[in-house]
Parts: sequence; C-alpha cells; structure tokens
Amino acid sequence: MARTCLSLILAAGEGTRMRSNLPKVLHEVANIPMVSHVMRVCSAAESDEVAVVAGKGSELVIDVVEKENTSASVHVQTERLGTAHAVLAAREAIEQGCDDILILFGDTPLLTPETLTQMREVLSDGAAIVVVGFYANDPTGYGRLLEDGDKLIAIREHAEATEEERSIKFCNGGIMGLSGEHALVLLDAVDNKNAKGEYYLTDVVEFANSKSLSVKALEAPEAELIGVNTRNGLAEVEMLWQNTARKKLMASGVTMQAPETVFLSADTIIEPDVELEPNVVFGPKVVVKSGAKIKAFSHFEGVVVGENADIGPFARLRPGSVLASNTKVGNFVEVKNAKVHEGAKINHLSYVGDAEIGSKTNIGAGTITCNYDGMNKHKTTIGAGAFIGSNSALVAPVTIGDGAYVASGSVITDDVPGDALGIGRGRQANKEGMGEEIRTRNAALKAERSAK
Ligand code: UD1
Ligand code: CA
Repeated sequence: MARTCLSLILAAGEGTRMRSNLPKVLHEVANIPMVSHVMRVCSAAESDEVAVVAGKGSELVIDVVEKENTSASVHVQTERLGTAHAVLAAREAIEQGCDDILILFGDTPLLTPETLTQMREVLSDGAAIVVVGFYANDPTGYGRLLEDGDKLIAIREHAEATEEERSIKFCNGGIMGLSGEHALVLLDAVDNKNAKGEYYLTDVVEFANSKSLSVKALEAPEAELIGVNTRNGLAEVEMLWQNTARKKLMASGVTMQAPETVFLSADTIIEPDVELEPNVVFGPKVVVKSGAKIKAFSHFEGVVVGENADIGPFARLRPGSVLASNTKVGNFVEVKNAKVHEGAKINHLSYVGDAEIGSKTNIGAGTITCNYDGMNKHKTTIGAGAFIGSNSALVAPVTIGDGAYVASGSVITDDVPGDALGIGRGRQANKEGMGEEIRTRNAALKAERSAK
C-alpha cells in the first residue's frame, strides 16, 4: 500500500478491576502481553509507525513495547482525561503526518490484521473517519453508532444517549481510523462538556460531519473487539484465542485428540503431521517438526523437537533444548539446555541438563546429570553410540566417549574414554550361608520379644 500508516495504541487504562500491580495491557494472553498482540497485528497490517500511550506503570510498558518493536514510540498520558486526550498525548507522532492513523486499544488482543486493512481501505477511498462497530446482544455501556444511510452521523456515549438511542444495537467497538490530513483539526476540536467531563474521542464524528467530511462505520466481529477488564475477561479472551489457534493448527495438518486440552503460545510452531495426545502445554519458543508424536501430559518451553521424535507421556522439555530427529524422550524425563542428537533415547525417569547426547546413545532409566555444584552449572558430554546403565549419576563436568558403556548404578566423576566401560560403584561380594544365618537370628529375637 502506498499510503503510510501510524497505529496509535491506547494503553493508559488503570485496569482497577484487574486488581493487579501490573498495568492491565501487560497481562498475558497466550504467554505474551496483550499490548504485544495488538502491536503484532499492526505489523501484520503493514503499519509503518507504532505509538503507544501509557499511563500508570509506564516504565514497565515501555520495556515491553521496546522489546516488541525497537522503533515504536511510547507517550505518557499523566492525567486520564478521556480517550481524545489520550490520543493527543501522542501529538508528536501524529504531527509526523502519516496518511492513515489507526487508533487502537491495548486491551483488545483478538483484533485481526484484516480489520485494520479494511479500515485503511475505507480511508484510502476518501473517508476522514472510519469507526469499527459491532452488533451487541447487550449494548449497555457502549457508545451507539447513529447512521443515516451509509453515513455515520454521531457516536452517542451510553451516558449521554436517549432511551431511543439506547435501543440501537450497533455499537462503537472503540477503534477508529482517521485520515492524517484531518486528524489534528478533528482531535483539537474535542471538548469535555459532557456527562463524564471527559474528552471523548467519539466526538470527532459529529464535528467531521459539521465540516461535511465523510465518516463511515465498518462492521467487525464482536469477538475481535472484546476488551479485557477483569481476570475473568482475561480467561475468556485466552479461551477464544486458544480455540482459534487450535483450529488453525488442525487446518494446517496437525492432529489433536482433545484440542480443548492443548495449550499454545503466540509463537508456537507445530508442523503438519505432528500428533498431539491430550493435555499438552506449549510455553514460549517451541518448534515441533513434522511427524513428531507428543504423548499426553507433556510440557514444553524453549525447545526444538525434531522430525519423528517420540515424546512423553509426562515429559518435561525445558529451555535451550534441541532434540534431533527420531529421538525418544519418555515418561518422567526432564531435559534442560541439552542437545540430543539423532536417534538418541532417554526413555524413563531421568534428568538431563546442560548436556550433549550423541546420536543413537541410550540413556538408561534413572540416569541423572549432576550439573549443579550449588553455585555453578557444568556440562555433561556423551558421545555417539554410548550406553549409560540405569541409575547412574554423571557428575559434571564429565565426558563419556563414543561407544562407551557406563555400568548401572555408577557415580561417574572421571571421564570415560571411547569404547571403555566405566564402573563407579562398590564391587559385589556374596557371603555363602549368610542369608540363612540372618533369618535364624531375626526369628530368635522375635520369639524373645513376644515371650515378654
Ligand atoms: C469507549 C468509547 C465507546 C466504546 C467503548 C468500546 C469513548 C469516549 N468511548 O468507551 O464509545 O463503545 O470504548 O469499548 O471513546 N484510555 C486512556 N486514557 C484515557 C481514557 C481512556 O488511555 O484518558 C484508554 C483506556 O485504557 C481504554 C480505552 O482508552 O483502553 C477506552 O477507554 P474507556 O474509558 O474504557 O472507554 P469506554 O467508556 O469503555
Ligand atoms: Ca472500556
């Protein structure tokens, strides 16, 4: 699109009803802050500039915004005097003169780029203002859209509306596009002579009409415009987000037996032909490659799972882990910051942390990498084709060579060379007849006690 676009995200709400020390827009949906969702939608709709208006807790908002988009600007609204006042806190950004100005809310994370694109089309067709509306079953509390044919005449805030206007179900979703050409004139014309004594952004509509500018309403699905005000609202939006994401994944070729029990993050990547059993949680930064099978009750964070890997049930994969293709990680295994090469198996009850496991190596049940000395982390390196016997403790830093064996129950504190057998435990001794002797002694003791 040849026209330039500024997206202005209002995020100065106090969020009192969240009952939180965290600014409302930093509460997370799909493991990223709500304001980041809105910023990603802006990028997807090819917005050139992004400006965020923050209020209480602005330092925290600034951190998140800058991490999301280094070129975004943050403006602080010190007093909360209404939506038009909030927009003008970003006057500097507006003065830069983009063709399209989109005013969005930081607490509506379900917005889609398609809606922003449609808003921009209405502006490029010559509208001075485009307001996004929706049909509400219960419109109480929303501004009502008053139309005349295809013209939007006014937005009447609930508090100001007559009984007749209150019966209108077409409501202001809150987001609005302004043509850059008229934006400042319209915004500067807003006053605070109304029921709440606030500078209402919605007043620009009537003013634009008085100047014979074109004002349009654009309908969008209600779900996209849901604003989060409470923790219950946050959970509801999370559920809607998860449902949409699950459906998209299944449409792309991922099998889910019980999609309602699979939880995804905003950045989760799962390739086609992955199978997911019930009750699987994907934290941030996870990639699962094609053909992998993820069994029930597994938990993932910061991990790449290779093609045709077989994971779980009850596996916990933690940040920094890369599992190559055809690897197996079984029940009650925790893997952290470990590189597991092609075809290696860690099937039962193990902790593998700060480690590298060579291809086709077998890690026996109950193997633990002792990676922490109480202050520092150390690395365990195991070569290819090695065999670690059950219940071994590998005390890092330690290296076990290609093709080496470690005897079951070993505590390995020294490196094991390639093709060697490392044994680190007491030698077994059998005492002939000793079993019988012990049994006799114990029986005598029992008889003596019961005679007392
Ligand atoms: C606003 C609209 C209403 C619409 C509704 C949709 C106005 C005057 N009214 O009403 O027509 O139906 O949204 O949800 O715009 N904010 C600031 N600084 C302020 C005031 C608000 O940043 O000084 C932010 C809030 O954090 C919030 C957004 O602007 O994200 C909307 O403000 P809010 O007070 O919730 O407006 P509503 O009364 O819901
Ligand atoms: Ca609101």
